[in-house]
Amino acid sequence: MSGAVRYGLEGQAAIVTGAGRGIGRSIAQRLAREGVGVTVADIDGGNAAAVALEIEAAGGRALAQRADVTQRDEVAAMVAATVAHFGRLDILVNNAGIGIIQPLLETDEASWQAQMDVNAKGTLLCTQAAARHMIAQGSGGRIINNASGAGKIAPGAATPLGAYAASKHAVVGLTRQFGAELAQHRILVNCLCAGIVDTEMWALIDREVAALEGAEVGSVMQRAVDSIPLGRVQQPADVANMVAFLASEDASYSTGQAFNVSGGMLPY
Ligand SMILES: NC(=O)c1ccc[n+]([C@@H]2O[C@H](COP(=O)([O-])OP(=O)(O)OC[C@H]3O[C@@H](n4cnc5c(N)ncnc54)[C@H](O)[C@@H]3O)[C@@H](O)[C@H]2O)c1
Repeated sequence: MSGAVRYGLEGQAAIVTGAGRGIGRSIAQRLAREGVGVTVADIDGGNAAAVALEIEAAGGRALAQRADVTQRDEVAAMVAATVAHFGRLDILVNNAGIGIIQPLLETDEASWQAQMDVNAKGTLLCTQAAARHMIAQGSGGRIINNASGAGKIAPGAATPLGAYAASKHAVVGLTRQFGAELAQHRILVNCLCAGIVDTEMWALIDREVAALEGAEVGSVMQRAVDSIPLGRVQQPADVANMVAFLASEDASYSTGQAFNVSGGMLPY
């Protein structure tokens, strides 16, 4: 497979949730370039299959799996399929997530529940299932959660993602406590806090906030990018690079941490 192998992860196996597009797709591709067998999991089975084919066409090892992270039975099947196909499970990347634009005063219970279910409960269910297998396997493991800058700071009145922020704060909390509980099994649990990443999720935020403000499409994204010290929008690969590092032996003395990868946007 093209691309330099850097981290000595060859022969390991990973699950990446929400890997049918966007950041998850980039993470799956990056891990595959490191020689990792990757289960490309997504609620959209067609997109998962397409990404798995891309990886195989580039010489990597991939398994497509349709899985909704909010459904315990589908999560169990995702872990079982990975172990059946690759013979092991070393890395879980909890990446699946949704965000809904709604000021908190107008946030209805269905939208609150949907975001808490995918972002927080999904991380809980996938981590439980993967960690149980890793413990039985007895060779440690890595769990990397794609939280968000919104897991540390308020997105602000101009970006009304309050319930999303609450769910991502929950992801940071799950990372800290799972990190403490799983350390005895040499399973390291960390999360990433990204900034403004150029994906469909931000394209949607841009369109919806622009409509609320009566502003031009693209202007909300531009305003957000203007606040990034490094001066450019974040690419999915910027996140994937950090995931590869956190999966590696070079990151073996960190657990329960929330790492920023935000172009300098996040203050802590
Ligand atoms: N885009 C950003 O600026 C940004 C910034 C920080 C954090 N994040 C986080 O990164 C992750 C990926 O975001 P993205 O921008 O690539 O989003 P995206 O919307 O492009 O992709 C999300 C993927 O998750 C899948 N998904 C949604 N619900 C699911 C479920 N219940 N089960 C399984 N899969 C499901 C979707 O089908 C989709 O393929 C999310 O957790 C998001 O919150 C994104």
